[in-house]
Amino acid sequence: MKTLTRRTGLKGTLTVPGDKSISHRAVMFGALAEGTTTIHGFLKGADCLSTIGCFQAMGIDIEEKEDTIYVHGKGLRGLQAPDGVLDVGNSGTTTRLISGILAGQNFTSELSGDASLNTRPMKRIIAPLSMMGADITSKNKDGCAPLLIHGRPLSAIHYDSPVASAQVKSCVLLAGLYADGETSVTEPALSRDHTERMLRSFGADIRTEGRTCTITPPKTLHGQHIEVPGDISSAAFFIAAACITPDSDVLIQNVGINPTRAGILEVCRSMDADVSLENVREAGGEPVADIRARTSRLKGTVIEGDIIPTLIDELPVIALMACFAEGQTIIRDAHELRVKESDRIAIVSDNLHAMGADVIPTDDGFLINSQQGTLTLHGASINCAMDHRIAMTFAVAGLNADGETVITDSDCVDVSYPDFFRQLERLYAQK
Ligand code: S3P
Repeated sequence: MKTLTRRTGLKGTLTVPGDKSISHRAVMFGALAEGTTTIHGFLKGADCLSTIGCFQAMGIDIEEKEDTIYVHGKGLRGLQAPDGVLDVGNSGTTTRLISGILAGQNFTSELSGDASLNTRPMKRIIAPLSMMGADITSKNKDGCAPLLIHGRPLSAIHYDSPVASAQVKSCVLLAGLYADGETSVTEPALSRDHTERMLRSFGADIRTEGRTCTITPPKTLHGQHIEVPGDISSAAFFIAAACITPDSDVLIQNVGINPTRAGILEVCRSMDADVSLENVREAGGEPVADIRARTSRLKGTVIEGDIIPTLIDELPVIALMACFAEGQTIIRDAHELRVKESDRIAIVSDNLHAMGADVIPTDDGFLINSQQGTLTLHGASINCAMDHRIAMTFAVAGLNADGETVITDSDCVDVSYPDFFRQLERLYAQK
């Protein structure tokens, strides 16, 4: 449990943990490659540890030495049948990406996770994998995990995905590693492209044209060194905290700013936030920068359309920022928020209401009305539904509210950011 009270003057420099999406993929592709993949900056959050656990259970030797993860790959055909059920924990990325890989193996496997994971929609991957000839079923016939996968030879397809989801796209592309020809995916809007970038660096022939990505099954993948940049989805909490907390100036070093992930920076610009990029560079095939955020006079904005997949995980904390902006903020086309680790439209709205904000949940987003300077949030007991991003969003809210904000199941931040509260406290203790 954590209790937060009003603070001013968040000051200092910090480094956020490694990108979650990139960390998952580095382990997965490393396991399927020939030779050793070394990963520097790997996120040791519970989700990525679930990915490691699954591959260890399939005979992959993974070790840690001096802050580097070594994945001793066994090639595309080197995985072994696991002894028991593969435990995917809370991780949707592990479940959906690994399903694509498992569909093409010559063994049977079962995937299951925690109570939240086992309610998340899996028909979105069962459908395209079945089109490829995969034998994948929802054990309880509810379209969710546990998933039973009888690996078998796969046929190449073109898949028109109804949803802009990197997890769906990556699942199909990974199954495409085992298909009998070129597999392609077209998505309605561009989702994060870490799979494409990283598979290419491992030697796969993977091409992107507009919203369509095509993979030719490779003979082999080759182990790589991966530098994982800081996760912009984790940095988002500090960007928001600095913008809304009076007298703040925070520098977040070494953050990935891949354009398919960096929608929050564009939103900051449209809200007139005092957020700037310093030291922009390229590291390990991904653009990286230091992000400086300072107290800002925010204004309301409209967030909709193709930008949504590029900031989907940041919307809870962006909704909080909107409570401190002058005027109305409209967030729409974000129906996907309803099927994340929690129903984030409902949970964010409920908790913001409990703190006194003027927020109307809609089918696919929020309407947030505010007038900077006149709205005062008050502390509340927060229900985070065991969702890490909700806990962190409302920790930031608690620093800007009267009275006490209590986050009961605060340990859920371990999923993506075990050190979150310590780093946040350091920013206001530094005076
Ligand atoms: C992820 C993709 C996104 C994101 C999730 C990580 C990934 O999910 O919300 O946290 O690593 O591919 P969707 O692909 O379902 O939108």
